[in-house]
Amino acid sequence: MRKKIVAGNWKMNLDYNEGVSLFSEIVNMVKDERKGDQLAIICSPFIHLNSLAKLGGNDVKIGAQNISDKESGAYTGETSAKMVKSVGAEYVILGHSERRQYFAESDALLAEKTKIALANGLTPIFCIGETLDERNNGSYYEVLKKQLVEGLFSLTEEDFKKIVIAYEPVWAIGTGLTASPEQAQDIHAFIRSEIEANYGFNIADDTTILYGGSCNPGNAASLFAQKDIDGGLIGGASLKSRDFTDIIKALN
Ligand code: G3H
Repeated sequence: MRKKIVAGNWKMNLDYNEGVSLFSEIVNMVKDERKGDQLAIICSPFIHLNSLAKLGGNDVKIGAQNISDKESGAYTGETSAKMVKSVGAEYVILGHSERRQYFAESDALLAEKTKIALANGLTPIFCIGETLDERNNGSYYEVLKKQLVEGLFSLTEEDFKKIVIAYEPVWAIGTGLTASPEQAQDIHAFIRSEIEANYGFNIADDTTILYGGSCNPGNAASLFAQKDIDGGLIGGASLKSRDFTDIIKALN
């Protein structure tokens, strides 16, 4: 059964006290609005994870925004999947375009991180998306397919079933430009068809595929009404408790 999810990505925002305070507001608002089968997740910087996991209970789950591709050892400054899991996080964003672009994360590296996340009991929220140039020159299906094949499609069926995918057109992230519901639906259907070709109809039908990119309370309902869009990965609007809660309310 496909899960409906709204996940917030705080990115590199909020000091410790600001994060705890915003999260407490979100938990209070979300617990009155979330329907039983819907999932709200906040992916915070590492420093907040432990405290948020204690505050979130069943109402808001916690995720990290990155993990190391190594299990442990002399890798100064890195944080492992096991560490993230040990403080109560259940999810991790992998493959976000900001990490692909600013930290040169390749599909091969992301495939390693995905395996390590799964081996340590974390659910990856795996992001794919095309740039504006790739959209304009028509290569975007090819680009998205490569990200899926090289990042995810070497997983076993059992492992792939645990993955959440987020389609985030790079040109829509933080720009105020949103993919139209039809553009987003077209890509979500394409992603699902690629999953079906590799893992079969049932697994494809059960995979949660989120949309991300300037999603807000004003456009969420029309995006979420599309048959292959199962929720959203929310950046800017997740830093405002009212907006984040209103986006959850837009889940059908
Ligand atoms: O991970 C979230 C996305 O990058 C979307 O960010 O909602 O600020 O456009 P945004």
